[in-house]
Amino acid sequence: MTPQEWYGCFRHSWQNLLVPEAFQHPGKYNRGVLDRIYDALQAAGYLRPGYRIHDPFGGVGTAARRALAAGYHWQGVEIEAHHVAAAQANFRLWREGWMTGTAVMLHGDSRQDNGLAAESVDVVMGSPPYDDLLNSSGEGPGARHDSKHHRPENSRKISSAPDYGATPGNLALAASRPRRPGELPAFDRDALLILGQCRRLLRPAGIAVWVTKDYIRHGRRVPFSDRWETLCVRAGFICVQRVRAMLVDPPAFQLTIDGTAAPAYKQYKSQWRRDAEAKGAPAIDHEDVRFFVKRTDN
Ligand SMILES: C[S@@+](CC[C@H](N)C(=O)[O-])C[C@H]1O[C@@H](n2cnc3c(N)ncnc32)[C@H](O)[C@@H]1O
Repeated sequence: MTPQEWYGCFRHSWQNLLVPEAFQHPGKYNRGVLDRIYDALQAAGYLRPGYRIHDPFGGVGTAARRALAAGYHWQGVEIEAHHVAAAQANFRLWREGWMTGTAVMLHGDSRQDNGLAAESVDVVMGSPPYDDLLNSSGEGPGARHDSKHHRPENSRKISSAPDYGATPGNLALAASRPRRPGELPAFDRDALLILGQCRRLLRPAGIAVWVTKDYIRHGRRVPFSDRWETLCVRAGFICVQRVRAMLVDPPAFQLTIDGTAAPAYKQYKSQWRRDAEAKGAPAIDHEDVRFFVKRTDN
């Protein structure tokens, strides 16, 4: 399957659109990527007014903004109380009398059923945290989602931790390697529980969309997006579309003063990431947006 490429997603930020405390969340969706996902789902008929969207990694509820205006019912589950509070403040900020959509953030653990009924949602849409984020070094997810507001110092070490949260059950805390040979790593075990709940909630003809990104750890590129896809397949989904939301503009050239053409293209990355890549770190030039349907076991 050849991945589709989306350019121009990263030109807009969340500035003035979120309550101040929401900016502390280091792993928010990028606003332009969200818009492109909504556009694609609407165009393909997966979303219509009145449809229900479930996000098992609710965060500060950024995905609900467009759902409210478009008349969808958005529900998120978030394990960290301070993110739940920020999401609820965002919903109050966004809600206008004419809007027919609804937004609710449940304070809970997506490994559990949270009292939500089977086959009650039309779309699952989410962005999982990186594995073992709080226990190791590496660029945190903030840089992938909101380079403009992200503080570079947070992406270098886990000073993001207090913002990110440390409640037991937070997938970001789960170890990415098995404790004993032959055992499933805690990250995979917990991710499979969450994906199992998503599969239970999704109606048979519904669609699941995941926003992920590879990252660099100890100087190497970690193929996190493929790891997440493998987990989705194990949980009973089939990938039907892969998209690369490009963090760089298409290659272009600009004339220099001496009349030669020099390569010029804009990159939408944190300064820290650009510096690291200039010093030889592997380049990460896109986020991944992957679409999945339920595998029918017959
Ligand atoms: C990458 S962030 C998603 C942010 C969200 N897309 C937004 O724009 O605000 C992942 C979120 O999942 C939450 N999370 C991690 N494990 C969870 C679990 N077991 N149940 C519910 N939420 C969880 C984290 O606290 C974090 O806020």
